[in-house]
Amino acid sequence: MPPKVFTYKTPDGKEFTSKAEYRDYMMANFFSFKEKKNEPNPLLKVPGDIDGQVFDIADCENSTLVVMDKTEQVQIDNCKNCRIFIGACSSSIFARNCENCVFYTVCRQLRLREVTQSTFYIYSQAEVHIEFSNTLRFAPFNGGYPLQGTHMQQLSLPLDHNLWYDIFDHNDQAKTRVNWSLLPVAEYEQPWFPMGECEPAIKITAVGSVQRDDGQVGQSFGVDQMIADSKKNTPPALPPASIPSPIAKKVAEVVQPSFFNNVPLEPPNSILGVALECKKDPFPTKIDLTIGAYRTDAGVPHVLDCVREAEVVVQQQQLDHEYLSQDGHPVFNQVSQLLMFGEESSAIKDGKVYTIQSISGTGSLRLATEFIAAHMPSAMCYIPAVSWQNHSTILQACRVKQSTYRYLDASGCALDFDGLIEDISQAVEGSVVLLHNCAHNPTGVDPTDEQWKKILEVCKSRKLFPFFDNAYQGFVSGDPATDAYAVRLFSEAGMEMLVACSFAKNFGLYGERVGALHIVVARAELIATVSSQLRAIARSLYSTCPSYGARIVAIILSDPARKAAWESQCKAMADRINESRNKLFAALVQYKVKGTWSHVTAQRGMFSYTGIPAWAVQRLKDEYHCYMLSNGRISLAGLNSSNIEPFAQALANILGTQE
Ligand code: LMR
Repeated sequence: MPPKVFTYKTPDGKEFTSKAEYRDYMMANFFSFKEKKNEPNPLLKVPGDIDGQVFDIADCENSTLVVMDKTEQVQIDNCKNCRIFIGACSSSIFARNCENCVFYTVCRQLRLREVTQSTFYIYSQAEVHIEFSNTLRFAPFNGGYPLQGTHMQQLSLPLDHNLWYDIFDHNDQAKTRVNWSLLPVAEYEQPWFPMGECEPAIKITAVGSVQRDDGQVGQSFGVDQMIADSKKNTPPALPPASIPSPIAKKVAEVVQPSFFNNVPLEPPNSILGVALECKKDPFPTKIDLTIGAYRTDAGVPHVLDCVREAEVVVQQQQLDHEYLSQDGHPVFNQVSQLLMFGEESSAIKDGKVYTIQSISGTGSLRLATEFIAAHMPSAMCYIPAVSWQNHSTILQACRVKQSTYRYLDASGCALDFDGLIEDISQAVEGSVVLLHNCAHNPTGVDPTDEQWKKILEVCKSRKLFPFFDNAYQGFVSGDPATDAYAVRLFSEAGMEMLVACSFAKNFGLYGERVGALHIVVARAELIATVSSQLRAIARSLYSTCPSYGARIVAIILSDPARKAAWESQCKAMADRINESRNKLFAALVQYKVKGTWSHVTAQRGMFSYTGIPAWAVQRLKDEYHCYMLSNGRISLAGLNSSNIEPFAQALANILGTQE
């Protein structure tokens, strides 16, 4: 790889070319309190200062240290006579070698070693571990700051699951509680609200109020007695702590009243999020293997010639911008039906297929799933155990029950056909089975023609309802008819089914959102009712579809010469991707990258499910500006003559080489 030229900027304007040096600087200057002694005022980190990073506190004395933000792991070492507040830590807080301190800590787990004469007001989601410590006192977390509840939700720390009394002392096998005790309620301090009084997110709870995940109630540590002890005390009504005025000002700055203060943060989408991250990376030779979108050998988006020509036709037609009908563009619907089921389709000839235009792949799947939710409400939908992430999300959004069928074998890279058959065979009658028509996303692992026949047999005999996702027709063999094998097999067998089609990939019309949803019914007269319901659902979602992309596809597929041109241009894309597969395999072999890689050439379509582990994916990003999905999926379209070798070389550096 070429030397890195990218610079990392710190909030105080420093620039680093090395990420490690940048991290060290940030840790030293922003994500820590170190050697703070006799500080006259509390030292504060407010929401947004840390934003989920690791935080260190060390060698502090006679000071008040407050972290009111999300943190990952927190280490607290060698502190004396301090008051320490950690508002929301997603993993463990470690305190070591501390004495005479008061801690207010919220974390998944608290771990103490060589801590003495200290009091802990805590929220801990799991039992607290102590070692070589004594004269400790524990009480429930008491106080808070205005965004604490939101931060805890974002870190998946349930507000009411506080195991503050469940203490495991590694040096007290007999559980005598010789090294620690629960603080009597009458001795609880005033609640601590470092940014000013607010509604506390964490309620003070009694001993034994929460069960551990293993179903025990603090069983390891004589909690029965503690429960009895605690009943002797009733919580006093405590006045709020007074708010020093500079802190009150910070409260006003940071937490404006809003209806949205408690809206939790949704993590970035596992595909679109990493694609965006890559897009933002200014590194000139970054490698983008994220989203399933075709790129040329020069690494740029591609507009098909036939699409460019159809665009000219659209311009010349000088059409108006009236709404399309609720069914969508009529010619588009007709040609998309033929593309999917074939000119000879008996289902089409018998009038058993209804097509409604829809919003690309996701919109088609959503429309179909809303239909399932409304008209097959008790059906369980089975999806492959490894599938496109949005399948599960859409089913959940429509409240359709979902389960999985086995898809990959132990190698993680090939089909577990027996497992698949066994699982769908056990599905109850009337279940929906979601099937990828071809180019399975994310694995690139498709059943063979013979295996499809067996899947059909099971669907038929078990009375299962097939729901096809058809997003990559043409991308496997280069021939859209060949790639329609599974759907055509099922429809010729007389199966009722839904087929959600995207024209994003095979026509390169990603942003135009062109899709079609086909429904095949057993008797032609059913079309009137099912189509009326699909139109009604679409009306409530987006009313009618956009027209531009549908016009383009209609122009191309309704003209034999244009259609032939499209087929050869689609084939050229498929061929380039297959060539990239072979070249990648050759480069992995050439650089002797540890592992077996034959699955790269065995898989089909736009993706390879490489088996690269998540830690290596992270290093590829951090060290080589190479982006892919954390599940190991790469979009082969992102590979080209200039980046295949650097990618293989980076993998050799990270995964190691074999003899
Ligand atoms: C992909 O899987 O990368 C594409 O289908 C894009 C998307 O929306 O996820």
